Amino acid sequence: MTELAILGGQPIIPRPFAPYRSLGTAEEKAVQQVVRSGCLSGFYGSWESGFLGGGEVQAFEAEWKSRFKTGHAISVNSATSGLMAALGAIGIGPGDEIIVPATTMSATATACIVYGGIPVFADINPNTFCLDLDSVRENLSGKTKAILAVNLFGQAAPLSELRRIADERGIFLIEDNAQGPLATESGRYCGTIGHIGVFSLNYHKHIHTGEGGMCITDDPRLAQRLQMIRNHAEAVVEAAGVSDITNMFGFNFRLTELSAAIGRVQLAAIDEHVNRRERFATRLTANVANLEGIIPPPVRENCRHVYYVWALRCISEQLGIKRDTFIAAIAAEGVPCFPAYVRPLYLLPMFQRRIAMGSDGFPFNLSQRTYDKGLCPTAERLHAEEIVGFEPCAWQLDESDADLIGAAIRKVHAQRDKLRSRERNAA
Ligand SMILES: Cc1ncc(COP(=O)(O)O)c(C=O)c1O
Repeated sequence: MTELAILGGQPIIPRPFAPYRSLGTAEEKAVQQVVRSGCLSGFYGSWESGFLGGGEVQAFEAEWKSRFKTGHAISVNSATSGLMAALGAIGIGPGDEIIVPATTMSATATACIVYGGIPVFADINPNTFCLDLDSVRENLSGKTKAILAVNLFGQAAPLSELRRIADERGIFLIEDNAQGPLATESGRYCGTIGHIGVFSLNYHKHIHTGEGGMCITDDPRLAQRLQMIRNHAEAVVEAAGVSDITNMFGFNFRLTELSAAIGRVQLAAIDEHVNRRERFATRLTANVANLEGIIPPPVRENCRHVYYVWALRCISEQLGIKRDTFIAAIAAEGVPCFPAYVRPLYLLPMFQRRIAMGSDGFPFNLSQRTYDKGLCPTAERLHAEEIVGFEPCAWQLDESDADLIGAAIRKVHAQRDKLRSRERNAA
C-alpha cells in the first residue's frame, strides 16, 4: 500500500473535484423568457389582484403541489423566510415553546425568536442525527406550542411518531425540510407529514433558484396565513376578511419571476438531481462498510435518505486515532470533508448571553429554560468528536468518485497505526 499523503505519499485523489453545476440551457431559456416579458416580479399590492404573485410563481407553486401531492404550495424567497412564515402562521407568540433539535442550521431556532418564541433544544439520535424521541418527550411542557423537526442531512426525523405526539397534545408539527426534497418516511414525502413543511432552494441544495424556498401544507387556513405573511399581511387583512390578525404583519418573502422560472426547470429534473446523489452516497457507504471505528450513515427502515450531507461517525476508542487526525489524513488524500456540522445551537453567543431582541434579554427573559453546556450531550459529543461530513451537493460526482473517496478512507484506515504514533509524539 502506498504511503499516506499526509506523510509525504501520493494522494489518492490528485486534483479537486469540480464544483457541482446544475444550471443548463433550459434554465437559460426560462430566464430569457422572463426578462423578455419585462416582468421580474408579478406581485402587486392588492388582495383582489396580483397578491398571490405572477404567472411563473403561480405555475411553480402548482407544479410543486402536484409533485409533492400536497394541498397547497406557497413559494418564499428562502427557507429562513419559510420557517418564519410557518411559525407565524401557527400563531407562535412571546413565551411559547418550540422544541427544536440541538443540531441544525441556525435559522431553525431564530425563526422561533422572531415571534418571541422560546426554542427548547432537544438532543439528537446518534444514528440519524435527527431529533431523539425520548428527549422530545422529556422537553414537552404546558407551554409547548410546536415541534420543529429537521430532516437533517436529507433523512427523515421520526416524523410519524412526532406527528402522533403533536396530535395527542393538540400542538403543531412543522418540518424543516430544507435538506430533504424527495426524502420519504413510510412512503410519504418529508414535508407532508407535519402541518407545514419548509424547503430550501438556495444555491447549494439538491435543486435551487439561487435563493428561494417553498412551504407546503394541506390546511387551507394555514395556507392563506402563509400567503399573507409572505406579502405584508397587515395591509390586506381587511380586504381578505380575516379577523384573526395574530402575527399578520411585517414581511416581504416574495419569490421573483426569474427565480420561479428557474425553479420550474429544476423541479422538472428533481428526480435526476436527487437520484444522482443517492447513487453516489449508496456506493460510498458500501465502500466503507465494515471498517472498525467508522460508522457510515445508516438509512432508517422504510425511509429514503437523499444525502444533502453524507456524514460518517468516527468512534475514536475503536479507531485508535482522534476524529480530527483522521480528517486531516483523508483531506490530504484529496477528500473535501469537514469536521462536525454545526455547533449545537445553544452554544451560540445569542443563547449563552441570552441576548436576541433589544438588550433586556427578550424573549429569554420570559422563560426559565437554560442553555448550559451539557444540555444535549449526544449533540455535543457528535460535534466535538465524531461527525465527519461530506457534501455531495457541492461537487460534480459520480459513482467512480465514490470509489476514489472510499479508497482514500480505506487507505487511511489501514495505516492508522502510523497516525497513532504521530498523535502520541505530538502530545
Ligand atoms: C436545516 C436548514 N434549515 C434552514 C435553512 C435555511 O435555508 P435558506 O438558506 O434557504 O434560508 C438551511 C440552509 O442550509 C438548512 O440547512
